[in-house]
Amino acid sequence: MSPSPRRVVDRMRRLRYGSRRSFERFYQREHDPFHFDSNPYEAGKFDDLLAVIGAGPYRHALEVGCSIGSFTERLVPRCEHLLCTDISEVAVERARERLAAHPNVRIERRTIPGEMPDGEFDLIVCSDVLYYLPTWRLKRTLAGLRGRLAPRGAIVSLHWLGEHGAAVSGDEVHDLQEQAWGDLEHVVRLHREGVGPHGAGYRLDRFDRR
Ligand SMILES: C[S@@+](CC[C@H](N)C(=O)[O-])C[C@H]1O[C@@H](n2cnc3c(N)ncnc32)[C@H](O)[C@@H]1O
Repeated sequence: MSPSPRRVVDRMRRLRYGSRRSFERFYQREHDPFHFDSNPYEAGKFDDLLAVIGAGPYRHALEVGCSIGSFTERLVPRCEHLLCTDISEVAVERARERLAAHPNVRIERRTIPGEMPDGEFDLIVCSDVLYYLPTWRLKRTLAGLRGRLAPRGAIVSLHWLGEHGAAVSGDEVHDLQEQAWGDLEHVVRLHREGVGPHGAGYRLDRFDRR
């Protein structure tokens, strides 16, 4: 029997330092350790993300922290070219297998912010990933993502607001985003309350470059 969402949160405490090694171990233990493919909460989260992203099509999109490709699979029909990155090689291999039929998707093992991809993107998606970065790395990441946003591009970011021992809280991520991306237009500001583990809910924001 698969563990409850609460058990998943308890296991996530092992990831609190956000190291590559901890994520590799996490993925080696289980194929889908975050239960993206089986938890209805995750499906609802993906629906919210897609509604905010819209139909596209986006010419060049970037998904940071793609895990095993569960959201990637939903995002790909809206993108002409989609680059996905994750810190874990194990996760990247699973995502590559899953998206093998889509030649317009590239999946690379990269650790942000140190290995941020070059280029400009019309869409950047960060879902439940930025709270693994300590504040100084998070600030560097936010600046790096802003620098890669193409004119008329959009950054869509979502983070769960519960406590799981991560470097910073979901609220801190979204508050820092507002500071770092103050020159962008804050077009969506959603606080979904009472859902997910511990009923903690999430914040979902979209920032557009005009
Ligand atoms: C909780 S999962 C979120 C997956 C997906 N974005 C979603 O919301 O369904 C976080 C993912 O971010 C990856 N990750 C964590 N720190 C990272 C970093 N510094 N650079 C790139 N990926 C990272 C982890 O390996 C993991 O697959």
